[in-house]
Amino acid sequence: MSVTTFTLPALPYAYDALEPHISAQIMELHHGKHHQAYVTNLNKALESHVAAIATGDVAAQIALQQAIKFNGGGHINHSLFWKNLAPAGTDETKLEQAKELSAAIERTWGSFNAFKNAFSTALLGLQGSGWGWLTREAGNGAGLRIVMTKDQDPVVGGDVPIFGVDMWEHAYYPQYLNGKAAYVENIWNVINWKTAEDRFLGRSEERTKL
Ligand SMILES: [Fe+2]
Repeated sequence: MSVTTFTLPALPYAYDALEPHISAQIMELHHGKHHQAYVTNLNKALESHVAAIATGDVAAQIALQQAIKFNGGGHINHSLFWKNLAPAGTDETKLEQAKELSAAIERTWGSFNAFKNAFSTALLGLQGSGWGWLTREAGNGAGLRIVMTKDQDPVVGGDVPIFGVDMWEHAYYPQYLNGKAAYVENIWNVINWKTAEDRFLGRSEERTKL
């Protein structure tokens, strides 16, 4: 039985491209060290898991579940995150790139600002480490909702992540220190609305193909 080996995806922009909102130092560490560690540890855990299946060692398979969940989630979440960011001022960061999504946001929250406030409040209310997501629900209703996931848990259950915001301290602390609210305020300048629209309309295969 062979096992897929995952690799760190290249960033779609330079390390300093999100400045001044996210510093080059954070991006280098976050992508080159943190995300790389999730990829490395996911590959190790999957390799061990395949070996444990081959020998029928169920206890070893169970012991590996948490490592697969944590590092696999970390790889999925960060891969989505890099692509749902873009340098401030580029076309991708203009909300007009997401016409269908904007209309759905207005239907759901009444206005874009009401959604932005609700999302920001949810991000700042997260205790410990985790992520905030705008998702499109599975099924015919396809409604939008704000979902928070703990640690590196990914969005599951068929919901489609439209964009996510990393609320781990490693995502902002070297630049913002304890100023989490300023990080959340500034992240809106670098959201990639083109990617968000593509995910909302189902034009992306990212959820299943990393
Ligand atoms: Fe992160």
